[in-house]
This record gives sequence, C-alpha cells and structure tokens, in this order.
Amino acid sequence: MDYDIADIGLAGRGALQLEWAAMHMPALKEIEKEFGRSRPFRGKRISALLHVTKETGVLMECLAAGGARIRLGAGNPLSTQDDIAAALVKEGVQVFAWKGESADEYGKCIAKVLDFDPDIIIDDGADLHGLANGGKREVSAVGGTEETTSGIHRIKAMEKDGVLRYPIMAVNNANTKYLFDNRYGTGQSTVDGIIRATNIFVPGKVAVVGGYGWVGRGVAMRLRGIGARVIVTEVDPLKAIEANMDGFDVMPMDEAAKTGDIFVTATGDIDIITERHFKVMKDGAILCNTGHFDVEVDVKALRRIAVKRRRIREHMEEYTLKGGRRLFLLAEGRLVNLGAAEGHPSEVMDLSFCNQALASQYVLDNAGRLENKVYSMPEEIDARIAAIKLRTMGIRIDSLSARQKKYLAQWDF
Ligand SMILES: NC(=O)c1ccc[n+]([C@@H]2O[C@H](COP(=O)([O-])OP(=O)(O)OC[C@H]3O[C@@H](n4cnc5c(N)ncnc54)[C@H](O)[C@@H]3O)[C@@H](O)[C@H]2O)c1
Repeated sequence: MDYDIADIGLAGRGALQLEWAAMHMPALKEIEKEFGRSRPFRGKRISALLHVTKETGVLMECLAAGGARIRLGAGNPLSTQDDIAAALVKEGVQVFAWKGESADEYGKCIAKVLDFDPDIIIDDGADLHGLANGGKREVSAVGGTEETTSGIHRIKAMEKDGVLRYPIMAVNNANTKYLFDNRYGTGQSTVDGIIRATNIFVPGKVAVVGGYGWVGRGVAMRLRGIGARVIVTEVDPLKAIEANMDGFDVMPMDEAAKTGDIFVTATGDIDIITERHFKVMKDGAILCNTGHFDVEVDVKALRRIAVKRRRIREHMEEYTLKGGRRLFLLAEGRLVNLGAAEGHPSEVMDLSFCNQALASQYVLDNAGRLENKVYSMPEEIDARIAAIKLRTMGIRIDSLSARQKKYLAQWDF
C-alpha cells in the first residue's frame, strides 16, 4: 500500500485515540452504520485533504464503511497527529502526511493525494481543489466538498473565473457546520492552543481578537469566559455593532496593538497584524492566528525586523526587536488550535463530518445532474443532521400541534 507518514509504530496509540473520538461522535457513527448497509461508495475513490486528527480518522472510517478507497493528506503542514496517521494506514487509508511538513513537502503530499484518480475530492482550505482545477492535469471527479470559510472564498473565485471542473458542496455554509464548528469548536480549541503553547494565566489579560465572524465570536466569548478583557477589531460595521452590543470593546488594530497582551486573528484575510503593529506592542505580547492561512500575522516581517529569535517552548518562539521588546509567536502563525492543540473536540466535529459524509454521498448520487458550481448543502440534509445530533445528545423537544401549524400559517385571525 502506498503511504508516507512519520512513524507506523505509533498506530497502537492512534487506534486508542480513534476509539475515544468515536465514542463522542454518535451521529457520524449512525451514518456509518447506514453506509455499511447501503455501501454508497462501493468501488469509488476519495481524495481528501483534511487536518489529520482523530475526528478526521472517524470520518475516514465512516467513508470506508461505505466502500470508499481513500487517500488522505493534511490540510495544513502543522496539523497532522502522527499517531492518527499511523492508525489510519493500518486500517487501509493511504495517508501522505506528517506533522511539520516543509512547504515543499506539503506541496508534494497534496500532489500525491490527487494522483489517485478520485471520484470525490474532499478539501479543507481548497489547496486540493486549487490543484485539481488550476492545472492541466486530467480530473475525472464527479464532485467535491469544502470544509472551511477560506476554502469557500477560493472555490467561489474559481467558479467566478469559470475554472471549476466539478460541482462542490459548501459544507462550511451548512447551519449544522458553521454555527457550531466555527463558533464553539474554534472558541474552545483556540483557547486550548494558547494555553498549551504558553501555560499563561488569562484572567485580567487584555486579549485582542481580529475579526468578529463566526470564529471570532467563539474565540472572544471563550476568552472572556476565562477572564480576559477582550477587544475586537473589525471592518464590517454590522459585526462591529454586534461585538459592541455583546459587551466587547471595539477599536482599530492600530489602537488595540498598543494595549493587548494576547492577540488572536480570525478573519480569513491577510495583513491583520503587521510591522507597524509589532513596533508599538508591549513587551511580552503573545501573537497567534486561528484563521485558515498563515497570512494574518505578518510573520515574514516579524522575522525581518527581529534582532534575535529563539524557540522557548515547543509551539512558541520569542522574537526580540530593536530596543529589547520581545514578542511571542505561537505555532508559527499557523492555526494555533491545530498546531498547538488538537483542533476541535469530537462532539462538534460530529456535526461537521456528518455534513462531509452526506455531502460526499450527495455529489455521487447526483453525478451528472449538477453544474460545475458551488452548491449550498440541501436544507433536508442540514435538518436531518440536526435531528440525529439532538437525539444522540439525549435531548427531546416539543413538536408543533396541528392547531399551532394552522395558526402560524394564517393571517386573518
Ligand atoms: N481554526 C479553525 O479550526 C477554524 C475553524 C473554522 C474556520 N476557520 C477559519 O477562520 C477564518 C474565519 O472564519 P469565519 O467562519 O469566522 O469567517 P467569517 O466570514 O464569518 O468572519 C470573518 C470576519 O473577519 C472580518 N474581517 C475581514 N477582514 C478584516 C480585517 N482586515 N480586520 C478585521 N476584521 C476583518 C470580516 O468582516 C468578518 O466579520 C477563516 O479563515 C476560516 O477558514 C478556522
């Protein structure tokens, strides 16, 4: 079997992690059971580029139960958990990923993942879709899926430029994805990453959150929850009002830069914290990013202006600037929740990966009927996932009576 990972000897440890994750992903397990019976992916090949975490492992098991042959690479050079990669190889998944890939290795792994003649392409960040649609290579995929906001921006740009070669389901935009994964998943795991990387005491610190979208809200809410005084920066007036009414200070980054102790970027945009900000930051400021790409904190500029650079802890580097002030960068400016922690907890990935599983089935079932466009997840699938998840959480709710349905549908009372 073809694969390239750090150490196959870690498979035993990884298998235990997969079991632990599966225990907390009951909705996906239910879909796996159904796939085991109906085998929707029998004889099909899936190329997937996702963070190689225990939760992704459970998704791979689900797709494999449906009959798929899978090749998997990492969604980010720092996000692979090597024990999970090893356990998946033992289960027959062709994994090309290890933690700490260089940019060149990352590119080679993506090419290897695509070099599989896939029927379905699953992606997180659209690096794989970029390669499949941007180059000259033959791609016979009937469809694909996209996991995250930044990936959606990119595939929409591909659609606009008329280069999409297959339909793509925007998994990120399902209610059962972004409302929970982007907000609560990133909220908790980002704080987890900051603490694991630094072991800093958060209460009383000033935290600056760049961007108040779904991710920014979650991060701001959880940082406040453990005692930080949170400042939000935004470019969208509506989001800025929302942040203000949620009780956060809102100001431009130029001002926030002077007072923050901890900075977290969550915009999906570029150049949120740049040289002019580094120059006014306090000694000891901690910088990290939880947006998809490592372009939110201008790490190149930080490296250029620093007079000294040292690794202090596994996921934290110290940069000393002229005059002696020190700034501390976490996870090299890449996704801090995946670089320094383990990504989102299983319970929330349960929802996201039900969407990935059912989106993959949907593009296959509708092969030839969809255009080469970006599609929203069908409402029925979203509603079905919510219903399964709620049931597996052991929560019961009321249902509308016939009289209530009638009342809600009438105007002449
Ligand atoms: N760390 C993770 O595990 C994880 C999980 C989900 C999403 N993401 C990524 O997080 C990023 C944000 O995703 P989202 O779903 O919150 O997107 P979103 O579109 O809901 O929010 C982004 C926000 O950033 C704001 N923004 C844009 N440019 C800005 C600037 N220059 N200054 C201040 N604010 C600015 C926008 O106005 C918007 O409100 C994306 O890159 C996404 O892919 C990461």
